[in-house]
Amino acid sequence: MPEIEQFAAPGSEWWRSAVIYQIYPRSFADASGDGIGDLPGITSRLDSLKDLGVDAIWLSPFMTSPQRDAGYDVADYRDVDPLFGTLADFDTMLEAAHARGIRVIVDLVPNHSSDQHVWFQEALKAAPGSRERARYIFRDGTGENGELPPNNWESVFGGGMWQRVTEADGTPGQWYLHIFDATQPDFDWTNEEVREEFRSILRFWLDRGVDGFRVDVAHGMIKADGLPDYTPPSDADSMGGGEANVPYWGQDGVHDIYRDWHELLAQYDGDRALCGEAWLPTLKKTSLWVRPDEMHQTFNFPYLMTAWDAKALGDVIRESLDDFGAVGAPSTWVLSNHDVVRHATRLALTVDNPQGEGIGPHTPNKPDAVIGLARARAATTLMLALPGSSYLYQGEELGLPEAMEIPDEYRQDPTWFRTKHERYGRDGCRVPLPWEADAPAFGFNDTGLSWLPQPDEWATYARDVELADPNSTLSLYTELLALRRAHGFGSGSLVWEDFGADAVAFRRGDVHVVANLGTAPIALPGDATFLVKSQPFAGSELPVDTTVWFTRG
Ligand code: NOJ
Repeated sequence: MPEIEQFAAPGSEWWRSAVIYQIYPRSFADASGDGIGDLPGITSRLDSLKDLGVDAIWLSPFMTSPQRDAGYDVADYRDVDPLFGTLADFDTMLEAAHARGIRVIVDLVPNHSSDQHVWFQEALKAAPGSRERARYIFRDGTGENGELPPNNWESVFGGGMWQRVTEADGTPGQWYLHIFDATQPDFDWTNEEVREEFRSILRFWLDRGVDGFRVDVAHGMIKADGLPDYTPPSDADSMGGGEANVPYWGQDGVHDIYRDWHELLAQYDGDRALCGEAWLPTLKKTSLWVRPDEMHQTFNFPYLMTAWDAKALGDVIRESLDDFGAVGAPSTWVLSNHDVVRHATRLALTVDNPQGEGIGPHTPNKPDAVIGLARARAATTLMLALPGSSYLYQGEELGLPEAMEIPDEYRQDPTWFRTKHERYGRDGCRVPLPWEADAPAFGFNDTGLSWLPQPDEWATYARDVELADPNSTLSLYTELLALRRAHGFGSGSLVWEDFGADAVAFRRGDVHVVANLGTAPIALPGDATFLVKSQPFAGSELPVDTTVWFTRG
């Protein structure tokens, strides 16, 4: 087989090769002891992230919010919600992270605000056609008396995408659009006032010193002219990942917004970066989000969604390097986040589980935990050898599985309520982290409170337990990150190698990386000297669901 070499797009900016660790603030560490994580909690645990070896952290939203969608419903974009602390706590956290050489990215939620945002409250009081209503997407209803919604769009969280309001005089009135919950009205991004407001919000956080933004729903901000009807397929992923030509996803107009923001960020020093959350049907389309004058990174969701299959995984890696490389951008790699089933569980699924569906007490055919963890460790060992930037989600370094037995009364994801309990939603990947096996709430705080219950067996995943075990998932991640840095694997090229149809295999310089996704061991060269194994094994046969890095001779 001819050697095929693929290059990551060149460039020295930090975000091209960074390992970025996602913090979900409400579940990371809770200094106040109220059961919900906070900014002082993050500050107090930064040393553990430095020891892990990450380059940057991304914080899911901590801005003022009624928390109807765990903070993705922002009421004040320029302040910290009291649940999480204060702006001063944010500045302290930022300084402490920078002092440890860790960059900080914050979440920006521009597609929609909370219904408690002052603009939306003003819009509700104002008349149809007013300047206040024009900041959102208000329309008259259809039907004889406007009693039917303006079109047939369905919310990502279930139910219709339109909510009718009562006008100031008490009569039933117009409808407003909400891609997500009814408490998350969509802004009208064709309105220059909205654009100017977000420029100012970007400057607010850039002036404070943040290194960039993860941009929420970066594929939804512009809707097709005329808002034509659209019915998604019944097995669609909730964020629209698999569908082409959806009138509210991936419209061309979004790119002007990113070009504008790119210029704004370029006025600051330090290579500030934008990373788009855009679920799109193809990598080619995804790569349009990171053309040279747009965003710097975008999440590689096709990679995240790839099943545990050697051909599919090899293909998506090849395509990612090609398609992102063609526009001069690094590929990103990601296996878990706060919206998907944790990969230590997802990779062992035996039945289809569309994104947003979740797993709960009544889900049949629960994935096998041992297989799931082996695959997760193998998948990450492969991922961290790839050129480009990798995202880690808090807890995956402990090998945490999805929490599948959360009792109904604890559930908070709007998906659970809007689908009338048909879809469990995303709470199972959001359970607070275990830090110390013998402490209250496993060291999440010192009161023992936790907004979602932590499974008892998480004692075995606690950071202090794993720190003491050289074969733990935490030890594996720490080793991988150190080796990745030492070998400069975040950039450069890879050469594909052939270890049979069940392997994904390539070489980075003189380091060979082989993952076994099949059902039988794979013979490795007798002279292999192993740098890292995703799980311990003896001899030179690579067990199934295992990845190794090795040199020869
Ligand atoms: C994507 C976020 O990741 C998700 O958690 C949220 O519910 C939606 N966007 C709406 O903001």
